[in-house]
Amino acid sequence: MTFESQLSHPIYKLVAQAADELGLTAYVVGGVVRDLLLRRHNTDIDIVTVGSGIQLAKATAALISPDLNVNVYKNFGTAQFRYKECEVEFVGARKESYSHDSRKPVVEDGTLEDDQLRRDFTINALAIALNGEHQYELIDPFNGIEDMKRKIIRTPCDPDKTFSDDPLRMMRAVRFATQLNFDIYPETFESIQRNAYRLDIISKERIIEEFNKILGCIRPSRGIKMLDECGLLIKFLPEVLELKGVERINGKGHKDNYLHTLEVVDNIAMSSTNVWLVWAALLHDIAKPVTKRFVPETGWTFHGHEVVGAKMVSSIFHRLRMPNNEKMKYVQKLVGLHLRPIALVEDEVTDSAVRRLLFEASDDIDDLMMLCEADVTSKNSAKIQRCFNNFAKVREKLVEIEEKDKLRNWRPPFDGEDVMHTFDIAPSRVIGDIKDAVCNAILDGEIENSREAALKRMIEEGLKLGLTVVNQPQ
Ligand code: CTP
Repeated sequence: MTFESQLSHPIYKLVAQAADELGLTAYVVGGVVRDLLLRRHNTDIDIVTVGSGIQLAKATAALISPDLNVNVYKNFGTAQFRYKECEVEFVGARKESYSHDSRKPVVEDGTLEDDQLRRDFTINALAIALNGEHQYELIDPFNGIEDMKRKIIRTPCDPDKTFSDDPLRMMRAVRFATQLNFDIYPETFESIQRNAYRLDIISKERIIEEFNKILGCIRPSRGIKMLDECGLLIKFLPEVLELKGVERINGKGHKDNYLHTLEVVDNIAMSSTNVWLVWAALLHDIAKPVTKRFVPETGWTFHGHEVVGAKMVSSIFHRLRMPNNEKMKYVQKLVGLHLRPIALVEDEVTDSAVRRLLFEASDDIDDLMMLCEADVTSKNSAKIQRCFNNFAKVREKLVEIEEKDKLRNWRPPFDGEDVMHTFDIAPSRVIGDIKDAVCNAILDGEIENSREAALKRMIEEGLKLGLTVVNQPQ
């Protein structure tokens, strides 16, 4: 069987021509072959040749254009260029061996099979010859095609060796199993359980890169459960495991917050590709274990878990070397506000409560509503319907108030300078107090959202605090 029809990108013919001219044989290998066969989009093309990858890259680039920029990484023996939407990387076939406590391999030239054997999984160790007597034939020494058909993630050699060479591959195993809806081969899975402790030598950035890919899948819960079962999750996100279990006192139990969280994560992942929103789903109840109390009259409470949870977001992000910027603040904001929309309907939807929510959530209000709807995981369909009806009311009210008051991205119509100028005072806490009081009056609908009304109220607030009007505000 030949695979010529799968190789429709023009790069393959050019590599073949350059390899012929140099008297080399070239192969396309790894993830791109897997994805060609699974009909998945992949723009990272890896070319291997038994010989100099750099020489082949330069010769191929010369066939495209004398001006094409080739990036050469002499130390790694690789070269790379961009061509027609693809990153094309060239390397000479190699053997790699690693010492136990280092990620730095000792690299030697090798055969194509050596090169395939050093790869992580059988489905990632497939190669197709681009020229020579076996042109367009698949070279599959470890039964990758069979594993693809059986939907199995398996290492080409002893899994303890594959994972010892690069412990990140344990995360990759779970990631591919989740992305492709495959199972991890039992022997491979047991090896991950044995080697999970070695994730410690991997940087947090690389772990999170894989974890984010799991969160980007249609059903992340499957990957999260696998990470738990093979002992990887506890290595980097133990807080999520703390959510597990149901405690009972006097016959009263609470829901299993781990299973609930996984459901919320899946609900979000099904309707959004925003990985930060999935993080918000994953962490929305993260503080329930630390805020859990049993009150004999009413049962279990998790009072303040959204506030404590929002604080935990920053420490988790910091520990995992995740962005400490607007992404973190976004997750923090959603965790902190996730009870507000439902509380709104329970207390009746007043204009001022909706205004406040719009002001605090600002542009993230739609994501917040999505999170709140995903948070409804009851088994009782009447209850679910009631919740959705209530959310529909909140949404209506949000639209109505936003049209009227334009509170998304709202900036108060006056600032601290106005307070300092009017009362002739230096920067101090009192300025913040006056500002808060005036903003609250606007959000509560006591005064109009206009500069004139705000300045009038500002003067009243200042006078109440014993200040004197020195300059008329302009
Ligand atoms: N590879 C490996 N071990 C790793 C990373 C990569 O053996 N830790 C090999 C695999 O053969 C893989 C190829 O290098 O297919 C390319 O790696 P990469 O581009 O990271 O992954 P892909 O398999 O292409 O998958 P994705 O693009 O989804 O990350």
